[in-house]
Parts: sequence; C-alpha cells; structure tokens
Amino acid sequence: MKVLHLSDLHFHTNSKDNRKIIKTLNSVKEKYSNHYIVVTGDIVDDGHEKQFKNAYNALKTFKGRIFIVPGNHDFGAAGNFYSRERAKIFDEMLTKPLEQGGTFSFDNKPTVNVVTDGDDKTMFIGLDSNLETTSPFDFACGEIGKTQRNALAELLHDNTTRGMNKILFFHHHPFLRNDPFMEMKDASKLARLIYGKVNVIMFGHKHEMDCIKNTWGADYILAADNSPGKAKVGELTIEDGNISFKYVQV
Ligand SMILES: [Fe+2]
Repeated sequence: MKVLHLSDLHFHTNSKDNRKIIKTLNSVKEKYSNHYIVVTGDIVDDGHEKQFKNAYNALKTFKGRIFIVPGNHDFGAAGNFYSRERAKIFDEMLTKPLEQGGTFSFDNKPTVNVVTDGDDKTMFIGLDSNLETTSPFDFACGEIGKTQRNALAELLHDNTTRGMNKILFFHHHPFLRNDPFMEMKDASKLARLIYGKVNVIMFGHKHEMDCIKNTWGADYILAADNSPGKAKVGELTIEDGNISFKYVQV
C-alpha cells in the first residue's frame, strides 16, 4: 500500500483563491487513484463555513482513503484566535462526513483507522494538536493534551495492535522548541510515550518539507510543506512490513 502526505491546504472562501490546491488535488486523483492520503491540518484558512464547504467538495472524492487532522487555522481566525464554534464546524463539515472514526474538537481521543493490505495491517492514528485556549498568544502553539496522550498510551500498549504498522499524524511541528508562537508544549512527553512504538510520524504547520530517519524510535519523521501549487509530495510505501519513503511528482 502507498500513502501520500499532504498538508496545509488552506482552503479560502473565494474559489479563485483555491485554484492551486484544486490543481494539486486533481493531479493526486488522476495519478494516485489507489493511494491513501494523510492531510496534516490547516485544511481551511480561517474556519469559515464556506471554506469548509469548499474543502469538503474537493476532498469528498477521496472518502474511504483520506485521513485528516485539524490545524490552528481550522479552529480559529488567522490561526491565532481559537473559536469553539469553528472547532465544532470542523467536525460537522469535515470529520464526520469524511468518516474519520472519531472527532477532534474539545476533549477528544485519537482517531484510529486500520487498513489491511495483504499481510500488512497499518494503523492510522490522528491527533488534534491544537491547544484550545482563548489566549491569542498561545493558540498557534500546539499541545496533544492528557486525554489524547493517555488514550494513545493505552492503544500502543494493547497486545492486539502489536505487529501492526503505525502511522501517527498531527498538525504541529514537534521540534520547534522555545518558539512562543509555534512550539508543541508537550512534545517531549509525546516523544517518551511513542518512542519505538510507531513507524512513521507526520506533521505540517511550518510549510517546510523534511524527512528525518531513525529519530524518536521511528523509521521516518516527515514534515510536509503547504501542498497548494507544489510539484512534489511525500509518498510512503508499505510492503511486507517494510516501509520506504520518497518524493513523487503531483
Ligand atoms: Fe498551522
């Protein structure tokens, strides 16, 4: 099985501002019709209903093979002002219709989806990394939070999930330490919890591509840039328990 990593789609209200991302998604649809797709957040730009409508109309064709998580722009204006209402709209207009196996707003647990391909069982684990705070000085920062960390620990220690490949994905960049507007506050707690227990970690937020091997006990740590208008995206191949990564054209 193959997985593409997209991120930071930033769907706008006005359709003419979405041309680049629509072009990228059309290319994905045409060239990679059997690939699973992970989108690591900032699916819309500001959390307005019309933006979610535009995003859903473009993403619904991938239903059944797309896994999403929210970013700071999905849950609030300009990515800086958290809104309970917009967090709720994200779930109502994207998470639920795209059938993500859980929801993200408020005190949520990770979303879990298992895909079977031959002898390979791969678990996609989605986390909401938004710090749901009303302080604009904190909101662009990330936090996984206790509820999700506890549920994740339980999941990773469960004997029935042993032997599965595990892809963990969220929006915020976990290596941006001491950045008052970008850091993930509980990144080191997350690292301790998942060390050696997941194969791949994916995120976005910084709009910069990166591929780090053999860190945090994972085969690959993958940062995606913002997908609209980009010529290449990351592709994972999982075959007989082996995982490899390369960039492919879109
Ligand atoms: Fe972001």
